[in-house]
Amino acid sequence: MDLSGLDKSRLPRHVAVIMDGNGRWAKLRGKGRTEGHRRGTASVRAVVEMSRKLGIPYLSLYAFSTENWFRPQDEVSALMGMLEHYLVAEQPKMMRHGIRLKAIGNRRRLPPSVRRILAHVERLTRRNHGMTVLLALSYSGRDDIVSMVRQIARDVKEGKYSVAAIDERLIARRVATGAVPDPDLLIRTSGEMRVSNFFLWQIAYTELYVTPTLWPDFREPQYFQALLDFQRRQRRFGRTDEQLGNGNGADGLEADAG
Ligand code: IPE
Ligand code: IPE
Ligand code: MG
Repeated sequence: MDLSGLDKSRLPRHVAVIMDGNGRWAKLRGKGRTEGHRRGTASVRAVVEMSRKLGIPYLSLYAFSTENWFRPQDEVSALMGMLEHYLVAEQPKMMRHGIRLKAIGNRRRLPPSVRRILAHVERLTRRNHGMTVLLALSYSGRDDIVSMVRQIARDVKEGKYSVAAIDERLIARRVATGAVPDPDLLIRTSGEMRVSNFFLWQIAYTELYVTPTLWPDFREPQYFQALLDFQRRQRRFGRTDEQLGNGNGADGLEADAG
């Protein structure tokens, strides 16, 4: 695919994706939901590969939410099976392309086989520096905040730092994304205008892009469109248009806004 229409100097550093619409994709075709999820993994491959090709350093994929545990048991099992299969199958490519994988979320709830392969792939890819993929599994933004608060409370109680030392930087380091910069762009497929408990702390100034395209249909051309749209935005971080020199992005403001 020809990617020359994109300004390489103004790509997002971190793209986050709420991959939604697999069930509807399948239903429209008279297939079971599992088939939608299966086709969705091909979209995951496409988005990972294109991000790597473009040199986007961080990609976060919301694959399974805390709330998704309430789905029918057979769907949950099918999703976990596919996840395991995906992780096994993608290892060589991750190594070839220098992709580091890191899971975020409550991994203790995941089946042991998924936990094992996750730990294996994380260890295998930990020295890769081409791109980091954060896979959000059994993740919820509120859980993330609860864990962060607990950790800070513990640290204060143990005297590691004082209450007055708690600031945005300290909090940012204790949510699941840690040292990863906040997403510049959050894509949600399937048209729902909601965040569904994905990153909450992290998206304070993230550009939102919602497309009606269902996740299994979201491939290179659709991703390209999302990135083009992002490049047309003026990120103001609370400033005025004039302060930004009329519309050429907010470069230089990100540091003090973040
Ligand atoms: C997204 O597709 C996949 C997961 C949430 C795991 P859905 O399964 O939510 O598809 P819809 O929203 O029912 O179409
Ligand atoms: C959001 O999709 C979660 C993931 C994509 C993993 P859902 O399908 O679970 O979200 P809701 O229920 O429509 O908000
Ligand atoms: Mg959904």
